[in-house]
Amino acid sequence: MSSSIRFLVRIQPSGLQFEQVPGRSVLLSALSASIRLPNSCRNGTCRTCMCKLSTGRIDYQIEWPGLTREEKAEGWILPCVAEAASDLELLVPDAVDPKR
Ligand code: FES
Repeated sequence: MSSSIRFLVRIQPSGLQFEQVPGRSVLLSALSASIRLPNSCRNGTCRTCMCKLSTGRIDYQIEWPGLTREEKAEGWILPCVAEAASDLELLVPDAVDPKR
């Protein structure tokens, strides 16, 4: 898969959006765009960043992200260890745009 394609990530309900930076997690891509998403460990264990993927596909950067099979099936993801594999829409009510 080409790593030069930049996927767009939209956060709801705020409507904030940013580009997935190739090789970075969704979380770090958001932070690069000055959009703050809840986070703590940034390595897929604490679940602070856990949010719902409403559309799109992700790939994980680690083999065992801290989610149950049921949570994955329900669409929960850990953006600190995930990369967009398509354009995404995420539900993150606590996302903060520091420009506002
Ligand atoms: S920040 Fe800890 S699991 Fe994502």
